Amino acid sequence: MSQRIAVIPGDGIGPEVATAAVEVLDAAAERHGLDLDFVWFDLGAEKYLREGVTLPQATFEDLRDHYDAIFLGALGDPRVPDMAHAKDILLGLRFRLDLFINERPVKLLHPDLTPIKGKGPEHLDFVIFRENTEGLYVGIGGNFKKDTPDEIAINEMINTRKGTERILRAGFEHARAQGKRRLCMVDKANVLTYAHGLWQRVFREIAAEYPEIESRHLYADVAAMELVRAPEDFDVIVTSNMFGDILSDLAAQLVGGIGLASSGNIHPGRVSLFEPVHGSAPPLAGKDVANPLAMVLTGAQMLGFLGHREAEADLERAVREAIATRRVTRDLGGELGTRAAGAALIALLERA
Ligand code: IPM
Ligand code: MN
Repeated sequence: MSQRIAVIPGDGIGPEVATAAVEVLDAAAERHGLDLDFVWFDLGAEKYLREGVTLPQATFEDLRDHYDAIFLGALGDPRVPDMAHAKDILLGLRFRLDLFINERPVKLLHPDLTPIKGKGPEHLDFVIFRENTEGLYVGIGGNFKKDTPDEIAINEMINTRKGTERILRAGFEHARAQGKRRLCMVDKANVLTYAHGLWQRVFREIAAEYPEIESRHLYADVAAMELVRAPEDFDVIVTSNMFGDILSDLAAQLVGGIGLASSGNIHPGRVSLFEPVHGSAPPLAGKDVANPLAMVLTGAQMLGFLGHREAEADLERAVREAIATRRVTRDLGGELGTRAAGAALIALLERA
């Protein structure tokens, strides 16, 4: 039976990297005997400007009920300065599909790509499990006496026991399944005594269920330092929504930057959404210069989620070889355009 993947190319460089990546995924599917059915969706700034709609209810239900995964290029367009459509589509899908895990792999694919002196691929291989449906992202709050000198602005930070429990459990389960030895929980319980006090208590409870996994805790500020000082000390990091947002960008920069950073918005067993971290990069759009590797690695992560671990590993191998032999775009020291970089990956897949 085929697996249905909804492709939302989106804005800016999204369509170019999505086109290149889907061709690469098709090649991988052929090699590994996978039956993947890609269906393209017209959602994004163009549609919003044309029709005033972001994510129509019928489209949402279609995605929810008839697909195994969503493969999103990028959202963001200078003509929509408040990013209204991006919020509705990306954050809307995270919340409405209850995609409570934001899984961000951090892996050094070539020694030259890290800015940290003396660190190599053996030091940089971990994953961040960011809580994705609570915290400061719930959009609860408001303004009082807006635009006056007495203005008050509030954003509430929500932490539920269930939400905290399920992201921590997901992190421990991932560690167990992948044979990872250590899990680090990151919070700011020294200041957020109530909210992250809850994280601390739940963490201790759940850690006790996974005695074979070494668990430790760091405050978010210390974690930022430690990620740069000793990235080899991390296997799995579990943290809240906002800290995960910040630390995952820091971590992405340790392994080559957003041109290579992938992410999955996941609810195990349900339709989940995969997107590269880089965004729409409007100045690069339509020029065949954008680096498609983050989108390809995101596709690999998606195939892993869909149960195709060998195809995932094969794609990662091809990306490593492309980087090592400079069959890449200019941002990574090559000379290829987006399309040619995709074609180079297909050749590398087929050669092995
Ligand atoms: C990310 C992005 C989003 C976030 C933005 C675009 C809302 O930065 O996926 O990390 O903050 O979650
Ligand atoms: Mn972010």
